[in-house]
Amino acid sequence: MKMTKKPDSQAQFNSSPCMMHDTDPSYHGFLSGDETVALLLSLLHAERAGTKVCLLSEKEAPSIQHKQLLRDICQDEQKSCQGLLESLTIMGAIPDKKVGEFAAKCLAINDFDERLQFLNRGQGWVVREIEKNLAAISDTGVQKQLRVMLEEHRQNIDKLNQFLNSHTA
Ligand SMILES: [Fe+2]
Repeated sequence: MKMTKKPDSQAQFNSSPCMMHDTDPSYHGFLSGDETVALLLSLLHAERAGTKVCLLSEKEAPSIQHKQLLRDICQDEQKSCQGLLESLTIMGAIPDKKVGEFAAKCLAINDFDERLQFLNRGQGWVVREIEKNLAAISDTGVQKQLRVMLEEHRQNIDKLNQFLNSHTA
């Protein structure tokens, strides 16, 4: 039985990769190229907003500890921006210059710890967006970049929550 089936499966194997190459990823249950670019851009806008919040808030930080924490988060936000720009290049897309509306909303909060809590809610949105879409990203390079970004965001959320808890306790 194996002997008779082998030529068929071999023929299928030979032809399918070429056909797959020309079909849109969405046909296989993945996000389409446009959907992936839209996701990457929305994350880029959010990360630029996060960077702006960290940079401007650092200047007003009420303590050295706040300052250091914001500096650390800012580094990761900038790293995420860079990674997303690289992913957009992989997708053949040209990025815009937009900064998410989140920045203005977050910076309008005067109470510093409330602002940081709001920053963490924004970081939580980023985590959920990546978790929701990660398995549907067909490009392995883009998927890898988002996986790193996801892990760093989870860590930063925990770090900031721990800081706020110890700070207000
Ligand atoms: Fe972020």
